Amino acid sequence: MFGQNKTTPKFCDLKGKVAIVTGAGKGMGEADSIKLAGAGAKVVLADIDTASCEKVAEKIKQARGECLVVKCDQSKKADVENVVAETLKKFGKIDILVNNAGIYPFEPFLQMSEENFMKVININLKGYFLMAQACAKEMVKQKSGNIVNIASVAAIIGFSGLAHYCASKGGIVAMSKAMALELAPMGIRINCIDPGSIDTPGTHTMEMDEKTREAMLAPIPMKRNGKAEEIANAVLFLASDESSYMTGSVVVVDGGWTAG
Ligand SMILES: NC(=O)c1ccc[n+]([C@@H]2O[C@H](COP(=O)([O-])OP(=O)(O)OC[C@H]3O[C@@H](n4cnc5c(N)ncnc54)[C@H](O)[C@@H]3O)[C@@H](O)[C@H]2O)c1
Repeated sequence: MFGQNKTTPKFCDLKGKVAIVTGAGKGMGEADSIKLAGAGAKVVLADIDTASCEKVAEKIKQARGECLVVKCDQSKKADVENVVAETLKKFGKIDILVNNAGIYPFEPFLQMSEENFMKVININLKGYFLMAQACAKEMVKQKSGNIVNIASVAAIIGFSGLAHYCASKGGIVAMSKAMALELAPMGIRINCIDPGSIDTPGTHTMEMDEKTREAMLAPIPMKRNGKAEEIANAVLFLASDESSYMTGSVVVVDGGWTAG
């Protein structure tokens, strides 16, 4: 009978799984880490900002979760290799990677320097490649793995002042589809999430007046920004076996912004 079978597994149960989350110190990365740990995963918090990660780690430990903080600039191969090595040393395997860390500095296209263009590409796109490749090399050994790449609605629609960012996010979606084809036979799934406008420390540092903030809500049918936890819910679903027939997919979580 429904509800009476004690052996029915919990929805999106991650007990026994090991997950790495990049950019785990703040915003969506923090919410993702707490969500995955709450579902039973052991979580590695990777970020350039370890002080913020330590605060997230405290929250996870208070809720009786297990985690590890590792300093990592995901645009640097040596740092990425170190995250993988530390994860294996502490937890012995990698089941889930949430590629989340990214930057979004506004800059007019005509003034955009080659250096700044490459900085965004190196962190947002090359960083996801390095992390995904290093983790997938471990995942193939166990013939299973799950990668969730946080892209953006900027992969679907353009944004003034963010040509480098839009290029990086479009690249993430295209790369993820190619990875999904190659890695499906090895038991590894790769899916993307395209968040819309989400309240995070990153978006709060963007300088704009109240009028501009209101104008930004105009194209969003739900007339509000999303919460980091609303992205974390989608991450949990994609990271769990509940999404077992999904790979190469893009899940848009944007309050209807790009539906029109
Ligand atoms: N907030 C939004 O509205 C929004 C919308 C769509 C997509 N996104 C994407 O979601 C992701 C998270 O965004 P957020 O708003 O939570 O960001 P945030 O700025 O609030 O937090 C980002 C975290 O990433 C870390 N980080 C930055 N550079 C790093 C690097 N080189 N290596 C490792 N860690 C690094 C920062 O220290 C920080 O802890 C990003 O990829 C962003 O592009 C955000």
